[in-house]
Amino acid sequence: MIAFHDVHKTYLMGETRVDALQGVTVEIPERRLAVIMGPSGSGKSTFLHLAGCLDTPTSGRVSYNGTDLGTLSSRGRADFRAKSVGFVFQKFNLIPNLSALRNVEMPLLLQNASASDARKRALDALATVELGDRIHHRPSKLSGGEQQRVAIARALINDPKLILADEPTGNLDTQTGQRILLLLKALVEKGKTVIVVTHNPEIAESADALVVLRDGKVESFSTSEGRGGHL
Ligand SMILES: Nc1ncnc2c1ncn2[C@@H]1O[C@H](COP(=O)(O)OP(=O)(O)OP(=O)(O)O)[C@@H](O)[C@H]1O
Ligand SMILES: [Mg+2]
Repeated sequence: MIAFHDVHKTYLMGETRVDALQGVTVEIPERRLAVIMGPSGSGKSTFLHLAGCLDTPTSGRVSYNGTDLGTLSSRGRADFRAKSVGFVFQKFNLIPNLSALRNVEMPLLLQNASASDARKRALDALATVELGDRIHHRPSKLSGGEQQRVAIARALINDPKLILADEPTGNLDTQTGQRILLLLKALVEKGKTVIVVTHNPEIAESADALVVLRDGKVESFSTSEGRGGHL
């Protein structure tokens, strides 16, 4: 379980102070699909960054299976990110001059995996997202949905327990969005914990847990049981 306890996140930019999260307390179940919704600027990406240990709260606690992430050393945090978290960023963050295959291999190579092992696993991950026939394409030669799937393959490459996806269907047509949704659900069936930020009501509908943020606060939290269930 990922638990947020009275989490505040304040960004300071010169004179300007933004209270992006203001006392968020919520428990995200494991091995489930959780969805974060809310208007632009409500703190969704900030929430995801804190859940994935990419950033630290200004105050409050984020814990993963009872371990307070705030007590980890910077090495411990880096380890947690590398081994347990797969992040699909709001803006894909693919490296433009590398092929799909090289983009997906990169996290493994950075962790000193052997070139042959990295290649094999990257090919597997690209096959999982049904991009086996686009492995030599650079991001600019791929459609938005294909780029998104490369980003998902890259997030899966370390076989992380926790997959965090920031608007993975953001600019995609309904059919492509549907495919990404099926992919995320398949990951949950394989035992992964998936947290998705989305504006897509269809994804929200099929979530096991739904957090709605507004102005940095939890406006509502519901589970599929509470909404009549779906699984
Ligand atoms: N690194 C930062 N420095 C300063 N302010 C920030 C930073 N990141 C986010 N903010 C501010 O914090 C607030 C919450 O941002 P966040 O990115 O979490 O919103 P969001 O819900 O993901 O919005 P969107 O739907 O537009 O992606 C916004 O007002 C934003 O301007
Ligand atoms: Mg965002």
